[in-house]
Amino acid sequence: MTETFKRFPDDFLWGVATSAYQIEGAWQEDGKGPSIWDVFAHQKGRVVNGESGDVAADHYHRWQEDVRIMADMGLKAYRFSIAWTRVLPQGTGQVNAAGLDFYDRLVDALIEHDIEPFPTLFHYDLPLALHERGGWPNRETAQAFGEYAAAVTRRLGDRVTYWITHNEPAVTAGMGYLTGEHAPGRRNPFAAMHAVHTLLLSHGYAAEAIRAHADRASQIGIALNLHPIHPASPKKRDRRAARLVDGMGNRLFLDPLLRGRYPKDIYRLFRPFFPRIEPGDMARIAAPLDFLGINYYTRAVVRRALNPLTFFAAEAPPKDSEYSEMWEIYPPGIYELIARVWKDYHPQQIIVTENGVPVPDKLDDGHVHDEGRIRYLRDHIAQTHRALEEGIPVTGYFVWSLLDNFEWALGYGKRFGLVHVDYETLERTVKDSGRWYAQVIRENGVRAP
Ligand code: GCO
Repeated sequence: MTETFKRFPDDFLWGVATSAYQIEGAWQEDGKGPSIWDVFAHQKGRVVNGESGDVAADHYHRWQEDVRIMADMGLKAYRFSIAWTRVLPQGTGQVNAAGLDFYDRLVDALIEHDIEPFPTLFHYDLPLALHERGGWPNRETAQAFGEYAAAVTRRLGDRVTYWITHNEPAVTAGMGYLTGEHAPGRRNPFAAMHAVHTLLLSHGYAAEAIRAHADRASQIGIALNLHPIHPASPKKRDRRAARLVDGMGNRLFLDPLLRGRYPKDIYRLFRPFFPRIEPGDMARIAAPLDFLGINYYTRAVVRRALNPLTFFAAEAPPKDSEYSEMWEIYPPGIYELIARVWKDYHPQQIIVTENGVPVPDKLDDGHVHDEGRIRYLRDHIAQTHRALEEGIPVTGYFVWSLLDNFEWALGYGKRFGLVHVDYETLERTVKDSGRWYAQVIRENGVRAP
């Protein structure tokens, strides 16, 4: 097959993404308060092999080395998350200056190396103190999030331009409060739907706080995990199942944020589970977004099933497809998703805020030969380029992840990094994919079939 070079715009933001609990460690240093993940990971049976983020990749102590690795790769942007409990150990109230100092230094170091900081304010690590007052199902948590966003912006808002309020609110609500696979491990559909509303509302409060306290023109976005949903067959019942899963996974978030209302079909069907929506809520949620972040890993192929907890659908993974350790590998899905979101919602900009693949990487004489990851990234970057060719304003692409890290309930067994981490010595080794990505950035594009 002939290959062509797909060139990206000159100012395209090539980045990598991480999150606080997955890489930082130092779970009780410098005044940090406990989060629901600190507690959850320490409970028996929650995480594979009883692993936790207590040490993780020890980024809290090795951040200078990590910034140097990023600078050597030539990265244009770095998406990291801020641990709410470092800034406000009790979730609200007293600000812990030492916690903010950490991110302050990180932001300075990034800027010094011409790497654009992309802080995410929330990536699953809710302060325990707020959980004890009801957590995300309690609407007061939305105002608390606004207060936290203000505290962060007062400190970093003179240097940070791009802000992401939430990472994957569907996962925060769904895995935290419906399936219970993530902290806080609840299984209650009422709690889950209430959490969805508070999360969206809290995005609105945070956006207002950032705009009020930043000393520069901010670009505010949110990172949603979206999937193309394909019916397993052309049968009506499978198409209806696909529509419903699309409603719960995609439109439940896209519609409020970009149209100011919940999707009608979903609202009608699940009405008893929704909280009361107060006057002004939907306008606050739909305040203009400067960019929409999309996290893409895979598609879902679904058929009808009689289980209300899975929205009357079951996954029907196609037999003749390729799979990673976690999901189907389906590169055209990233193009399909971007094109669909653009057609249906017209966000001002789209940024791919996560894309990546777990590979069972091994150190081999100081090298990690992860061709599988290179192929995955190359094919997804080429599919992203298709969207650009159609004139869709995609302005950045972030690989998940910079470092191998703590993959939530799956522990350390799933390696997503461009950089290998030896969890005994915490030594970093740039993988073949890391070198390859540096070349993509240098050449500003990929060669692909
Ligand atoms: C999420 C995140 C990341 C994951 C990544 C791979 O999806 O939960 O944003 O924290 O590590 O998506 O699963």
